[in-house]
Amino acid sequence: MQIAIDGPASAGKSTIAKLVAKELGFIYCDTGAMYRSVTLMAKMNNVDYSNESEILNLMSKYKISFKNDSDGQKVFLNDQDISNDIRSVDITNNVSEVSALKKVREQLVNEQRRIAEEGNVVMDGRDIGTTVLPNAEVKIFMIASVHERAVRRFKEYESKGIEVSLQKLEDEIQQRDYKDSHRSVSPLKKADDAIELDTTGISIEEVVEKVINIIKKK
Ligand code: DC
Repeated sequence: MQIAIDGPASAGKSTIAKLVAKELGFIYCDTGAMYRSVTLMAKMNNVDYSNESEILNLMSKYKISFKNDSDGQKVFLNDQDISNDIRSVDITNNVSEVSALKKVREQLVNEQRRIAEEGNVVMDGRDIGTTVLPNAEVKIFMIASVHERAVRRFKEYESKGIEVSLQKLEDEIQQRDYKDSHRSVSPLKKADDAIELDTTGISIEEVVEKVINIIKKK
């Protein structure tokens, strides 16, 4: 079974997808982490974020993998744990540029489809229901107000000791929404057969329950 969860930045996709996968014993695939890992590869090697051929060259040299441990899912680049590095402000602000590169997307989409063949999967991203898994049995398009999403990100940064203003986060979220939904390749778009779920003002537990109920009806 394939569950596709798409939506804009900080709508709660990965939090919910992880919990739903755990409850159902499904594989969880965080596709945003894959685009973030490629952005980090470019940064580590001083490659310009728009230099597609050099980034493809780097992708052939590194392996991105996910490993589950007691703290949750960790992301590795070859043997290096990059779980925290890919969440830095710098990577967050540059990942839209890298994820707009056509051939980078093609390669990652192939890899995502390969992961989906390994078993039942919950996959979250921007183009899962429209492009990666168009035949997914359940497609959810998760949204939340810009303000609520900025507050969520604010709390995440606060817990890591990173200081940033709420207004700046609202501006960044709006910019990333715009870039993600206006790029020419696989823009963020609700699939025609996706169910829209607005998580504004709803607790994590309630959203998980709603998603599980949708899946159980299938
Ligand atoms: O979900 P996230 O914030 O970790 O995603 C990081 C970026 O990657 C986001 O700005 C858009 C891009 N992305 C994408 O283009 N397609 C996906 N399937 C997942 C993420």
